[in-house]
Amino acid sequence: MKKSLFLISLAAATVLSAAEAVPAQDSKAVAMEGVKYIKMLGKELKGNLVKYLKQDPTGLQAAYFCAKSAEDLTKKVNEKFPPNVLVRRTALKYRNPKNKPDATDRKVMEKMMAEMKAGTFKKKPMVVKVGEAKRVYVPLIAEKTCLKCHGPADKIDPKVRETIAKKYPNDMATGFHEGDLRGVIVAEITPQN
Ligand code: HEC
Repeated sequence: MKKSLFLISLAAATVLSAAEAVPAQDSKAVAMEGVKYIKMLGKELKGNLVKYLKQDPTGLQAAYFCAKSAEDLTKKVNEKFPPNVLVRRTALKYRNPKNKPDATDRKVMEKMMAEMKAGTFKKKPMVVKVGEAKRVYVPLIAEKTCLKCHGPADKIDPKVRETIAKKYPNDMATGFHEGDLRGVIVAEITPQN
């Protein structure tokens, strides 16, 4: 992941709404723990993405990697976490149907989008309580490199487009511009008993 993504002020971690509010001191500790796991997944995925993009700037090799291995790699990284922790990626406009957002994911991303529109958005983790579990959301902002596979369809290399269309016939994850909210990485931490 881009460095700046993690230069987030944990002290400033916010909560979604009063109904789901997590006590402040609690929220900070949870945010720190969640961000630690989120960084691990982010580093694996982005590290590979950058490596393949360097080898092949058209993005085709990187597209093969994402299409073939992003899911497995996510599983593998999760195996390193304690059993009560799950880290995944999701988006409002998603590519892999397995990354479809649930109601809470949607609410969080809609709030981020609304803040972006209002000019009050800050790139920081958001902590939300879902039943007994706590979730830490870190926003993923589209950068130039992301647009090779998530930009406007006519700007994506035809071979890359073909590779993506083959694996994801119902892809919604194109048409993004630099600075858009591409999605989130979320760490869900359930209490251990
Ligand atoms: C080389 C092509 C490529 C590039 C570049 C790329 N992605 Fe993706 N992205 C994909 C593919 C393919 C998937 C589906 C992976 C899967 O099956 O889980 C995906 C999935 C995602 C997802 C999971 C949600 C979903 O839509 O399924 C997020 C979030 C995401 N990408 C963000 C980014 C960000 C942020 C960047 C830039 C830092 C980026 N991507 C760059 C190809 C790419």
